[in-house]
Amino acid sequence: MDTLRWLTGEECLELLDQTKLPAEITYIRCSDYRDVASAIKCLAVRGAPAIGAAAAYGLVLAAYKGRPGSKEEFLARVEDAARELAATRPTAVNLSWALTRLLRKARAAITNDPEALRDIMLAEAHTIFHEDVSGNRRIGEYGQVFIPREGRVLTHCNAGALATAGYGTALGVIRAARDAGKKVSVYADETRPLLQGARLTALELLREDIPVTLITDNMAGFLMAKGMVDLVIVGADRITANGDVANKIGTYGLAVMAKAHNIPFYVAAPVSTVDLSLDSGDEIPIEERDHSEVTHHGGRLLAPAGVKVWNPAFDVTPHSLVTAIITDRGVARPPYSENLKKIILQD
Ligand code: MRU
Repeated sequence: MDTLRWLTGEECLELLDQTKLPAEITYIRCSDYRDVASAIKCLAVRGAPAIGAAAAYGLVLAAYKGRPGSKEEFLARVEDAARELAATRPTAVNLSWALTRLLRKARAAITNDPEALRDIMLAEAHTIFHEDVSGNRRIGEYGQVFIPREGRVLTHCNAGALATAGYGTALGVIRAARDAGKKVSVYADETRPLLQGARLTALELLREDIPVTLITDNMAGFLMAKGMVDLVIVGADRITANGDVANKIGTYGLAVMAKAHNIPFYVAAPVSTVDLSLDSGDEIPIEERDHSEVTHHGGRLLAPAGVKVWNPAFDVTPHSLVTAIITDRGVARPPYSENLKKIILQD
């Protein structure tokens, strides 16, 4: 089950439609960057690294459109598309990180030939894709040492292969622990309102025979109180210079409860999720989504019509609650304001 795939020769991107999972495995064929932008907006493709890679290919699609023209005209066209793609979801920094990488490559290229420029951009999109998979495998290796031989892990949302170009971050750590011969079992929070835990994490783990137990979000505290969890591992959408972590709404509550029960709380994310330009989590733009995601499910009304709703898609977990941040370049421990920088800026 590929999350996204570029069809060479057809110049088109296929995205697994995650809104249909687990019931249906269908792909959305994107031949215009606007198809990719819509797929990101509606969460057909979701998860910070996956939307970064999808947006990169989306920008390549923009490069294929229109009159070739001069280098300036070409760049103006792809920059407009990059702005549109970047505006689809504000919280995960991987999106603008990937777009900036492609634009930088195109601007720096010696050639003025638009066809050569788009080949350069396509090569960079492939690099982002492959780097993500290999980076996630390294996250897995660095992270699996924190899982006991018969470790019971609680996770939130989906930070698996479906949220990345492959393998996953938090679920990558779990996969690596399994591959290291550990008897790891997982509790998956269902993750209201869009149920990424129930629909996606449970599906990924079941398909690989990794023992998984689904719980509703409000069961996590009691699960910890009963001593049924050894550690919590989640992914991230943006990590600031001081180690604050934006991730799926509900993550903060889990971190507070983990602290209260003396349970380690780990964040697994590639360095492309770290945004050193922001000092703290207060500066992270938090996406607010449509109220119908809370009031409806599967077209069915769950709340009285007209009720007021607040629907932030993410929250911010302060660094003081994070035991360690597992990246593709190694593990950062507190003080994060010193140690994250060391990891990111190393050669
Ligand atoms: O709204 P989503 O489904 O895109 O949110 C996804 C998450 O919050 C993930 O935990 C995060 O992006 C990390 S994915 C490796």
